[in-house]
Amino acid sequence: MSLKRRIPFLRWSFLRLAVGSRNITKTGQIGDGREQAAVDYVVANARRGDIDDAIAKIDEFAYEKSFLINIGDEKGELLDAAVRRADARLALELGTYCGYGSLRIARAAPGAKVFSVELSAANAGVAQRIWEHAGIADRVTCVVGTIGDGGKTLDALAGEHGFTTGSLDLLFVDHDKAAYLPDLQAILDRGWLHKGSIVVADNMLIPGSPKYREYMREQQGKLFATVEHKTHGEYQTLAPDLVLESEYLG
Ligand SMILES: C[S@@+](CC[C@H](N)C(=O)[O-])C[C@H]1O[C@@H](n2cnc3c(N)ncnc32)[C@H](O)[C@@H]1O
Repeated sequence: MSLKRRIPFLRWSFLRLAVGSRNITKTGQIGDGREQAAVDYVVANARRGDIDDAIAKIDEFAYEKSFLINIGDEKGELLDAAVRRADARLALELGTYCGYGSLRIARAAPGAKVFSVELSAANAGVAQRIWEHAGIADRVTCVVGTIGDGGKTLDALAGEHGFTTGSLDLLFVDHDKAAYLPDLQAILDRGWLHKGSIVVADNMLIPGSPKYREYMREQQGKLFATVEHKTHGEYQTLAPDLVLESEYLG
């Protein structure tokens, strides 16, 4: 692996993230058009209808062109394994960005319906184009909103998309770090998880979600059984990260 791939600080598009971090929290995008450029790259270079190639081309774009805040290839393998372990028929992602996480979930669970909640309508549009190109738009849906929007998005998932008691096999939490715990609690309150459902949480070290991690530690062996996977931040091997995989014990 080249030094530039390994060490993110050698890449301008990574340093540009620091400038874009305020943008990300407001708009969901870094602010230099890289999300649009990513979809253009996928459409121009990935074979139509080939989910593997769509994932590979997003990874290539993130390594070679502009750094993206997807879960990425290394942590993505942990997500894939959790999806298979959950034997997911219904999956929910919080935080769509360019649609990469949902692509991985859809690939690991070919029979699953996948929903992804995203606050930015622009990101939903980017993801939709990538899913159409990859040939999975019939079973992957972006719902624009937030779990914390007073029940609107939760009601839409229940009323329009069939989320019912015990129906959710896999939850992937990868959005606003301060919302990890309240959003998990809102989903628990709806009763959508069942015994054996798996909850995966990304970025538990960078930038981290201390209250969520503390909650999972408190609930160890009670409501959840959690494994903390040691890994690296996306698209580099310098900075460590943690992915939490929690089985709901019901
Ligand atoms: C780290 S990215 C998600 C990456 C994606 N899960 C993947 O692996 O491809 C975070 C995304 O969460 C979105 N976001 C931030 N706060 C949110 C919230 N409260 N609800 C839904 N989406 C949110 C941002 O707009 C951004 O697109």
